[in-house]
Amino acid sequence: MDVAIKCTHVSKNFREQQQALPEARWHQRAFPGFKTTKAVDDVNIEVGRGEIFGLLGANGSGKSTLIRVIATLLLPDSGEVTVLGDDVVKARLAVRRKINRVSVDAAFFKKLSAHENLLYAARLYSVPAGQARQKTADILRRLGFAPNKMYAPMENLSRGMQQKVAVARALLTSPVVLLLDEPTTGLDPKSKRDVQEFVAEVRQQHDTTIILTTHDMAEAERLCDRIAIIDNGKIRSCGTAAQLKAHAGGQAASMEDVFFALTGRDWEEVNSGEDA
Ligand SMILES: Nc1ncnc2c1ncn2[C@@H]1O[C@H](COP(=O)(O)OP(=O)(O)O)[C@@H](O)[C@H]1O
Ligand SMILES: [Mg+2]
Repeated sequence: MDVAIKCTHVSKNFREQQQALPEARWHQRAFPGFKTTKAVDDVNIEVGRGEIFGLLGANGSGKSTLIRVIATLLLPDSGEVTVLGDDVVKARLAVRRKINRVSVDAAFFKKLSAHENLLYAARLYSVPAGQARQKTADILRRLGFAPNKMYAPMENLSRGMQQKVAVARALLTSPVVLLLDEPTTGLDPKSKRDVQEFVAEVRQQHDTTIILTTHDMAEAERLCDRIAIIDNGKIRSCGTAAQLKAHAGGQAASMEDVFFALTGRDWEEVNSGEDA
């Protein structure tokens, strides 16, 4: 396998100040305590060139933190990450030039339309104006975006539609590496399929290396060449869906079974209150 992204013993902790103690107990402890969360805990993964690699985990399992470390937005506490040979800490700019990231909470100019936001992004990426117009319209259409919504202010669009614009923005250029952080969360089934098909198409056409995070097991299984299951910051298992099922033992017929076999916890319960 030609390795595009390599994480070696990567860890990231967050130290958070806990709530102050009630006044009556201040004499017991002068300062409120700190809580340390091991968001990413000794992660080792290798993603092949042109691969769609799934990072599957429940809410709070560390997916976004790992993506942000790979995207050079967060420094790892320890360990190493390389993107096509460049180190995310030592060669930050080189890495940034190769990657594009989509996150569920992407920022836009809310008063501007999807079309305007995308043209603006295209300018930032130095895509020639004429080409940008064509491409913007093409991608939005391809993602099943209603043409009459293309010119409406972003703030008037549903969350799902805004998310499609975020995906479209990342695909304006043909990045070598795409980091898709829950690109389909919150989308209706049809939109979900539109985005999934488009992601598969982008990989096919441009040989893009893609890491996709999701808490949708069916999506991981359908779209990803290999899947890493992350839980409490740790990679519990990694392989093709078939390998994961085999690894989890004879009983594992579904990815839910795999998760239960690996963590002893029920997927439905872990994700309760989520839109799955
Ligand atoms: N900036 C932050 N400060 C403190 N804790 C954080 C921060 N970002 C994430 N965390 C914690 O790290 C853990 C992993 O979060 P995250 O990577 O966002 O998970 P996921 O993307 O899988 O939902 C969670 O316990 C979360 O509360
Ligand atoms: Mg996340």
